[in-house]
Amino acid sequence: MARRVSKRKMPDRDKFRVKERWKIEEGVFDNRTMMNISRVFTHGIASEMLHIISKGKEADVYLANSGAKVKEAHVVLKIFNQENTSFRRRAEYVKGDPRFDGIRADIRSIVKIWCRKEYGNLKIAAAAGVNVPEPYYFSGNVLAMQFIGSGDEPARILKDFYLSNPEIVLDGILEGMKKLYKAGLVHGDMSEYNILIEKDIPFIIDIGQGVSLMHPKANEFLARDVKNILNYFKKEYMIDRNAEGAVAEIKG
Ligand SMILES: Nc1ncnc2c1ncn2[C@@H]1O[C@H](COP(=O)(O)OP(=O)(O)O)[C@@H](O)[C@H]1O
Ligand SMILES: [Mg+2]
Repeated sequence: MARRVSKRKMPDRDKFRVKERWKIEEGVFDNRTMMNISRVFTHGIASEMLHIISKGKEADVYLANSGAKVKEAHVVLKIFNQENTSFRRRAEYVKGDPRFDGIRADIRSIVKIWCRKEYGNLKIAAAAGVNVPEPYYFSGNVLAMQFIGSGDEPARILKDFYLSNPEIVLDGILEGMKKLYKAGLVHGDMSEYNILIEKDIPFIIDIGQGVSLMHPKANEFLARDVKNILNYFKKEYMIDRNAEGAVAEIKG
């Protein structure tokens, strides 16, 4: 939850920290990314980069100490790779979405839209009561959000976690998908890789490709999402649920 906690402003200290980190991270991030990270700092969201949590094809995820405007100790920065050409295939998700009509489709623009889209989708999901990381801020290719984990230990993905109460967790995931659908969104990339388990609560993450229900493939994506999740729970926990029934329940 973002809030102003500090009465005393610390512009000099903040600036110094950004500069210090700048030196350390020089060469790791390109200039544009550095500029976007420094905006996250100056907006009081983060105060210090700590370490990388996940290296992905399209984005790296970093743990950072939070800034004065964030109540919790840590925040997560998801930094999208500006050079990555695999964003080309993502144009499909952006083009069919009426929210992004008439937008340029070069790689850097797509990456920026992607980051903004993930931020927007997280906002919608959080407002609808879905368990997702709360989005705090975005700038260009950098998205700042709530850290899901305890201490500085990130929550594990569903795939790497043995559940003692799989039925309850599965219900929670389907319930989250239903709330998301009611809020007008389909995730589009649901799997055991994009769910974090923290204190037995499933958190849905990686929602950049989420599409509005007006997207021509929204129903197809929803059916695929449900299938992915049910297949996983069948394979790992021998829970057998009917996919059509689950989709109908989500659609209400
Ligand atoms: N808010 C978060 N809190 C804790 N860990 C996170 C958070 N967001 C992402 N991660 C970690 O980073 C990994 C990659 O994030 P994700 O959004 O799925 O990006 P991608 O799959 O595109 O690389 C996740 O599997 C998870 O381990
Ligand atoms: Mg992912």
